[in-house]
Amino acid sequence: MLYDTQGPFRTMVDENTGQVDRSIFADQAIYEVELERIFARAWNFMCHETQIPKAGDFFLSFIGEESVIATRDKKGELQVLLNSCRHRGNAVCRAEEGNARSFLCTYHGWTYGLDGSLIGVPGYKDFYHEQLDKSQWGLVKAGKVASYKGFVFATMDPEAPDLEEYLGPVGRMGMDLLAEKGNLELVGGVQKNLIGCNWKLAVDNLFDWYHSQISHASAFISGFRPQLEKLSPEDQELARIADIGAGGARTLQRAVLGAYGHAIGGPRLTKIEREARAKLGDKVEILLYDDRFRELPKAQEVLGEVGIDTAGHPNIFPNLWMTGCQLALRLPRGPSTCEIWWFTFVPKEVSEERRKVIIHDANHLFGPAGLLEQDDGENWDQSTRAMRGVIAQRYPLNFQMGMGQTPVTVNEGVSYIDTSINEHPQLWTYRAWAEWMDADSWAQLKQTHSAPPKAGDLI
Ligand code: FES
Ligand code: FE
Repeated sequence: MLYDTQGPFRTMVDENTGQVDRSIFADQAIYEVELERIFARAWNFMCHETQIPKAGDFFLSFIGEESVIATRDKKGELQVLLNSCRHRGNAVCRAEEGNARSFLCTYHGWTYGLDGSLIGVPGYKDFYHEQLDKSQWGLVKAGKVASYKGFVFATMDPEAPDLEEYLGPVGRMGMDLLAEKGNLELVGGVQKNLIGCNWKLAVDNLFDWYHSQISHASAFISGFRPQLEKLSPEDQELARIADIGAGGARTLQRAVLGAYGHAIGGPRLTKIEREARAKLGDKVEILLYDDRFRELPKAQEVLGEVGIDTAGHPNIFPNLWMTGCQLALRLPRGPSTCEIWWFTFVPKEVSEERRKVIIHDANHLFGPAGLLEQDDGENWDQSTRAMRGVIAQRYPLNFQMGMGQTPVTVNEGVSYIDTSINEHPQLWTYRAWAEWMDADSWAQLKQTHSAPPKAGDLI
């Protein structure tokens, strides 16, 4: 047995039998603990630094359900401020993004500086008799704010480990798989839409390479995405090489497991497979991902031996997914609703033609108009509805795929397995979820969270 921490939420996730209690997707009380113990504690992605380059630039983001203002103050420092006036709680910023000199509350006019300090109070002399201690009534500030390669994160908990330590080697690898694609620029307009699902089902699905042929059959049938058997002869050759490249289909997938619940799940892409793709030249455009950045010396140095071959989907716990040139947030909106945000990046180095392909894919794969996300969202919605019932909740979900089959490899401080399609990243995520939920502080979580599996552990 690899895991031995026990607590009330640990009983809902049994990694030894691969079972997860359905109530975690439906129960209002559990959801409220998530807001407290996961979102108010974790490092949450805010925005990209290119969205707020100048003093006064701001972008409204969320920590759990709470609106926060990510901004840059007059000194050029990043600030993350709770968007709630200290007087009667009104939002002090209504625009989703823009530039401001200060934040004026529209209720009674308290005014806050870009660093959150209370700088103006109507009637300060006549009504407050100069007795209000303005230094104590600034906007609530994040406990810590930091940027990783231009990606801005914030945590409300000052006891959280620093961002780089929080990410650890697996979280950093996940971020690097996007950051190393080039000199990234955000395409204007973050796509936002609501799906009637529990946020964890959306996270679960990003690791899921089992559903595509069924869930996305309509995308394949429509011709929007090629089916393997309908690929050109060159692509069939690529598929053949990939299949026999290093161990056959049984090792085509890689699951990478990190501390605090970070994980990466999906295909691996070894040198032989990358060389086969390179020979196909622009035909790789028909595949979902442009992986040519992996040939750059800097990418190889940063990603290391494990990362350079890792082509799956990273999730930075709890809710940040990177795919292709996009990044998605799965924001909780109650146990049965999730707000999905899509940020799209284009490396400045790419051709105009490639830029168009990236933006076309961003609009047509995911987001509200995305063919794949419509397929996925329908399933997540129905799963959420069908798990609400008292009878349904008597029966756990099954995460037994591939359990106990594969010994763990540890290389460059990263634990991973190369295997077939599996559910290890999902189970790892739920296990981390339970550990976060059981811990009543960062101090406790640091003590009780599971370390990534050791070399040779059979998972
Ligand atoms: Fe903001 Fe009164 S609620 S000034
Ligand atoms: Fe999907």
